[in-house]
Amino acid sequence: MHLDGQPTRSCITVVAGVEGKAVTTIEGLSHPVQAAWRTEQVPQCGYCQSGQLMVAAALIDAHPELNAGATEQELDAAIDAGMTNLCRCATYFRISKAMKRVARAQPVPIPPPVVEVPAPEPAPPTPPKGPGSRR
Ligand code: FES
Repeated sequence: MHLDGQPTRSCITVVAGVEGKAVTTIEGLSHPVQAAWRTEQVPQCGYCQSGQLMVAAALIDAHPELNAGATEQELDAAIDAGMTNLCRCATYFRISKAMKRVARAQPVPIPPPVVEVPAPEPAPPTPPKGPGSRR
């Protein structure tokens, strides 16, 4: 599940621990990883898939750099580091393919234009205060 947007293992979370927090379960997830999962035929027995999908969606959302501009090595590193749920059916290769499909479909963000701001003019020198000046 997602708890305030963060992937959280529901099996070790007590109900009192979610009071006041936003809870999203697999039934409420609406994310491009779901279509990619179907396209790549990721699930085998399906036992682990709810957790895999929730973690994958959160990982993609938390890392906007996982987009069409990312290299294969960058995608592999992010997926290897972020996807720590176990799958007894060893669907890891398909999970990786599905996540890369989503990442490559995401546009590369366009950086904001660089605006040159001129340096401020130096302040004019102040006349020295001396005898006869008013204080
Ligand atoms: S699909 Fe069977 S345990 Fe992951």
